[in-house]
Amino acid sequence: MTVTAIVNQKGGVGKTTVTLGLAATLAAYGRRVLVVDLDPQANATTGAGVWDAKSTIADVLANEQPGGVARVITPAGWPTGAESDDAQIRSVETIPSGSVDVAPSGPNLARVEHDLASDMIGGQDRLAVSLDGVAHNYDHVLIDCAPSLGLLTVNALFAADDVVVVAEPAAWSLDGVEQIVQNVERVAGRRGGRPVIRGIAVNKLARTRDSAHWYHQLQETHAARRIGAPIRLRAAVAESAAHCLPITAMTRSGASEVVEEFTELAKGFGLLDRDEPDQQIDSEPSPNPPNVHSVAFGGESDPTPVG
Ligand SMILES: Nc1ncnc2c1ncn2[C@@H]1O[C@H](COP(=O)(O)OP(=O)(O)O)[C@@H](O)[C@H]1O
Ligand SMILES: [Mg+2]
Repeated sequence: MTVTAIVNQKGGVGKTTVTLGLAATLAAYGRRVLVVDLDPQANATTGAGVWDAKSTIADVLANEQPGGVARVITPAGWPTGAESDDAQIRSVETIPSGSVDVAPSGPNLARVEHDLASDMIGGQDRLAVSLDGVAHNYDHVLIDCAPSLGLLTVNALFAADDVVVVAEPAAWSLDGVEQIVQNVERVAGRRGGRPVIRGIAVNKLARTRDSAHWYHQLQETHAARRIGAPIRLRAAVAESAAHCLPITAMTRSGASEVVEEFTELAKGFGLLDRDEPDQQIDSEPSPNPPNVHSVAFGGESDPTPVG
């Protein structure tokens, strides 16, 4: 079991996209995944199809509650059967039922963050305490962080074994990466070396010179770190978010490439084994799928970027 925080203090770089993309991909490989949504905007919660959470991670973090996250965990609302009439969007089976759980967020998480600041003995490890005895039920706990370096992100860093920094190959993004790396190292200095930086996930790589330039800059600046196989800017990613469906369920063109990219990313970061057998991702349901989703990817390869 590993707890991974997905971080960058910048919004819009793709933390939530990478969290949910990895969750769906790992689930397709039979892993049990808990997504902890630590952003008051709750994009990972709704992106995982959870709309009606009665209690949220905010209720858990309001007090120190060992194992408290267990009482808010809910299965992802991603469809597991034939529920769509739009063949362009999704296919029949998506992910194995019960393989992705969510600790949902809600808007009151912002107030809780404010309250944490007045905890006299430090509110930085509430999340870690709340995961006690719960995290081990999963192969992976992925914490989707808020776009800030505030106490919520600090809580994620105190709970995490490792960190994935998400970066967009664009102007200004390199400074942000440096800043978060320094913060991770400060926390690691107090926690006996944890969390370690698993790597930098490059998201929204576009087919433009500008994007290639910043990607190259990122690789040079962080040559000593592991840079993940990039996730390209693709309409299929945005569409899966718009439909609150896992990328593994999308049938439109480009979707299968995105799944391949997430698989490559997961393997490069050691979240999946390098020699893990490929999962069936074509339109023929496999005869005996163990934990496999049978996904119909209709369209041909279409690397056309959005924007
Ligand atoms: N690779 C990509 N291709 C196309 N759109 C993307 C990609 N990654 C993210 N997006 C879109 O960009 C927006 C911001 O991404 P998001 O994951 O919410 O960022 P963050 O969580 O860092 O704020 C969302 O609308 C998302 O669908
Ligand atoms: Mg987000």
